[in-house]
Amino acid sequence: MDDLIKIYVTDLDGVKHCIEAPTDMGLSLMEAIKANELQIKATCGGMALCATCHVYIKSDHLLPTMSEDEEAMLDDAFLLGIPHSRLSCQIYLKPELDGLEVQLGENTAV
Ligand code: FES
Repeated sequence: MDDLIKIYVTDLDGVKHCIEAPTDMGLSLMEAIKANELQIKATCGGMALCATCHVYIKSDHLLPTMSEDEEAMLDDAFLLGIPHSRLSCQIYLKPELDGLEVQLGENTAV
């Protein structure tokens, strides 16, 4: 299907998973990771209030600019300024993110 993209997610054990996710459902990266039964805490459910969905972006895809809420949460969690850090709940899946590679952050542990 044209509206499915592949995303590569490395878990906290260093295992790389390839997941497929639709781009026409308004899903966030965090929701796609959860839907594929990978372990990601994401306590606040995607409200940019917990930072337990933190990922490191490993590929050079152009991502949307951070919102003030995302930036503030990363700052509170001492993650702002750590290279390639993003909240996966604030990244919505689009066709141009096909092939995105991410590493789960330490605080995503369930
Ligand atoms: S799920 Fe809580 S900040 Fe992303």
